[in-house]
Amino acid sequence: MISFGCAYYPDYLSKTSFCRTTDGEVKLVSWQDSIKYNLERMSLCKVKAIRMGEFSWATVEPRRGQLDFSRFEFTLEQAKAQGIEVIFCTPTATPPKWLVDEMPEILPVTRDGKGIPFGSRRHYDLNSERYREESRRITKVYTSFLGSHAAVVGWQTDNEFGCHNSVFQFTEAAKSNFQSWLKTQFNDDIEALNDEWFCSFWSQHYCSFEEIALPLSSWADQNPHLELAFRRFSNEMHRLFQKEQVEIIRKNSPGRFITHNLMTLFTDLCPWTMADDLDKVGFDHYQMDKEPHPTSSFWQFSLMHSLKNRPFAVLEQQPVQVNWQPVNRRFDYSWLFLWTMQAASLGAESVFYFSWQRFYGGAEQYHDGIISHDVRIGETWQERTLRSIHLLCREIQERFNLDKMPAPKRDVVCIYDSESLWSHEITAQTNIYSTRREVDFIARLCSSSGLGLGFSKGISAALSVRDLPELLILPGYAFEFTDDERIAMKDFLGDGGKILTLPRTAMKQRNNQMSHFPLSFLDDTELLLPDYGALLENEQDTFTDGNLHFAGELWAEKIEIVKNWHALAKFESGPYTGSPAVLSRELNKGRFIHIATCPPATDTFIDWLIKALDIVPVVSPPSQLQIVPMRHGERSFISAINFADSEKHLKDIDAKMWLSASLDKGEKISLQRRQEGEAIKVPARSFTFLEVANNK
Ligand code: GAL
Repeated sequence: MISFGCAYYPDYLSKTSFCRTTDGEVKLVSWQDSIKYNLERMSLCKVKAIRMGEFSWATVEPRRGQLDFSRFEFTLEQAKAQGIEVIFCTPTATPPKWLVDEMPEILPVTRDGKGIPFGSRRHYDLNSERYREESRRITKVYTSFLGSHAAVVGWQTDNEFGCHNSVFQFTEAAKSNFQSWLKTQFNDDIEALNDEWFCSFWSQHYCSFEEIALPLSSWADQNPHLELAFRRFSNEMHRLFQKEQVEIIRKNSPGRFITHNLMTLFTDLCPWTMADDLDKVGFDHYQMDKEPHPTSSFWQFSLMHSLKNRPFAVLEQQPVQVNWQPVNRRFDYSWLFLWTMQAASLGAESVFYFSWQRFYGGAEQYHDGIISHDVRIGETWQERTLRSIHLLCREIQERFNLDKMPAPKRDVVCIYDSESLWSHEITAQTNIYSTRREVDFIARLCSSSGLGLGFSKGISAALSVRDLPELLILPGYAFEFTDDERIAMKDFLGDGGKILTLPRTAMKQRNNQMSHFPLSFLDDTELLLPDYGALLENEQDTFTDGNLHFAGELWAEKIEIVKNWHALAKFESGPYTGSPAVLSRELNKGRFIHIATCPPATDTFIDWLIKALDIVPVVSPPSQLQIVPMRHGERSFISAINFADSEKHLKDIDAKMWLSASLDKGEKISLQRRQEGEAIKVPARSFTFLEVANNK
């Protein structure tokens, strides 16, 4: 169903430490015994895999060439004996002190020109040829020592590429790489670059590629075309850095999968690019906001599944407090259960918790773990939660006769294009608009009505698959569509497909200049865009279909229809009063809807929009639940997660069989089996799993 894992750090153990033995005795033990007892304890709460080694370089190679793998060799043997699988990591996120002293030029420089010192992590610049060489060398060392061990089933490259704002490097090496990269991009034609980058503006003309500087902090905004090019370049450098490791791992550790832990709500790198050379997508799921945000978690899990359209691993799940928020608050215990079941419903095959240990020292000493700092504590609530989830999965497996969790469906495909996102970030025009906010809206639309959400990196990719989605959504997709994309969309509409675009779509060229023909969705003769602009934080442009009234936020477009489109709703307040707020165009059986303002994620608007799109939802919104439709062969399932503190009802579902589970006082899971014909009540903070007659 879903398997559990943990990050585990044998390298952090002192020679001797206090430990609770499997018999419950507390004593001072050697690091070897500590590992033994801990792996035994893991087995008791059904942990099937560990991930290790990502920060272990200095332990393994305390001085150049002096290797000591004893801790890991011992742990691997113990893991093999316990039947625990291991994902090993390359250790390049933390180069040791001796290496930094040998080659101080590998240390990063920030946009403000400040040097990053040794002593934390990610203190390297992957533009440095010498560091690249070191990365290849240490990857070879690790993989040749450990790569054929029976317990090693997979490898993780580095750790969280880009964490702590480390994607953008402002070193001399970065500058010279950027210049050569640009030279290739522009076929050595500097005038072509001047043109694409609009360099006449503010007198930015360049005579040669060697003159081009990195976009360091400046009085006013940097050239937005240079900024976008720099982001593309930085993304490409990360791809190359990872690829070099991937090639070495493949050679030295054949038959093992390769993964990387992509980050939550992280936009500096393109997840499609970084996933390309991997076998399995890995994801670190943390709550980045003050409050948990189940809607954002929903779409990020879906995105991770979509990157390869197959099950992914949550490589780090917070269990539950972290140490890096301004206030590292306690969470209700039930979150651990709900996040795990949400991930499982949306395509995660395993969830690794970060971490097994709670660290006694180091920067993360306050971070939660599965076991407690207090060695006298027997089973922690986290261990009990894991055992309970394991029982729940077994129950699902047996009652529904399933060998694995059914796969999430993709009724809706949303385009997730990092370059578009970067373009909006670079020239935001309003700092309260974000692509995330738009995707949150889409996730809410899908999750509250039971439409399966998937992602695609581009229009052509989304529309060239065999199983076409019912609905294609472009959330503020900045760029003009190409001719091929327009043809694909027309064919899709012709076959009855639906398309939804949100504001700020098709307004720019790929080089980040504004379009001369904005909103040329299907061709350039149908819509005109005389005006557009940002709304203040509490400002709303209301719009109406003549009956209902809705509040548009953040951004509004004044659109003139030339032909083929008609207004479904019009602005009734603000400077664009009277102009279309929601526009529709039919093509055969298909329907294209554009919303000219950021839509409200309210139940009434979602309900209205689903009807306007002429889509049949699985459940009638508003359901107040997160519904994930799933398929297993010919059989259809639904998972319904209730994050609220009150019971909710599921309407209009033809369920053959269902089962609900919720946490009782943060500890045990109570299973509630119901008989056919009973009303489906979904308890507060619970997970409900149903087999349904048909998803549609
Ligand atoms: C992640 C990181 C881990 C650990 C964790 C703490 O970003 O990969 O190494 O630092 O955060 O929450």
